[in-house]
Amino acid sequence: MAEIGAGTASGHRFGETLRRDAWWLEILPVAAVLGAFGMYATLRAFEGKFYEWGPYLSPFYSPLIDPQHHWWAFSPAVLILAGPLGFRLTCYYYRKAYYRAFFLDPPACAVSESKRSYRGETAFPFILQNVHRYFLYLSILYLAFLWRDAIRAFFFDGKLGMGVGTLVLLANISLLTLYTFSCHSLRHLAGGTLDCFSCATFGRPRYTAWRWISALNESHMLFAWMSLVSVGLADFYIRQVSSGAFRDVRLF
Ligand code: FES
Repeated sequence: MAEIGAGTASGHRFGETLRRDAWWLEILPVAAVLGAFGMYATLRAFEGKFYEWGPYLSPFYSPLIDPQHHWWAFSPAVLILAGPLGFRLTCYYYRKAYYRAFFLDPPACAVSESKRSYRGETAFPFILQNVHRYFLYLSILYLAFLWRDAIRAFFFDGKLGMGVGTLVLLANISLLTLYTFSCHSLRHLAGGTLDCFSCATFGRPRYTAWRWISALNESHMLFAWMSLVSVGLADFYIRQVSSGAFRDVRLF
């Protein structure tokens, strides 16, 4: 929210600021990458094919539900989309990024927004952002499926092996794990409500967990972007191999 103060013009017309730097440069890559990912993910989720090859399964389709279409006629990805989508949409970092890039509300720090009233996330629909912690619990479940997929990618016809796809899936789940375990809600869960760790039940393990999560949390923005790119690239790689556009390279 833009306020009268250092670096902000007092007129409150949209875009007014005392900043002299190119503040608008920050929102352009965010809009471009999030927009491109949103379009690609939507197309792939509804495509409903080219999502597996050999031991590889696209992260957009994991866990794979009813691929034979016994009771679900559409793309299996649609059945599981809400979990990862909801987790990213309600993420505290992404909220800041897309409020600025797409709603220009505000466009940047110390730059005036278009309206004078600000209800933030206290009213519908943005009050729904507060369900983030529940998407976190769901995402930890998704991580288990994606780790299973990464381990399966080491087995070709029952024999141990490794292809480029194995490395792609392994890198992707590692980045997704870092993104999930650097979550602000998880940090709050570990120690956010405590004034005194040594007085609390399970105080020591909670303190250890809180310290680890806090260290990861400092790079949450980086993990958010890296895991977004990796999940898109992992799906793209498997799509290309599955459709025959290019061949998986076996390393052993
Ligand atoms: S705050 Fe970003 S995933 Fe929880």
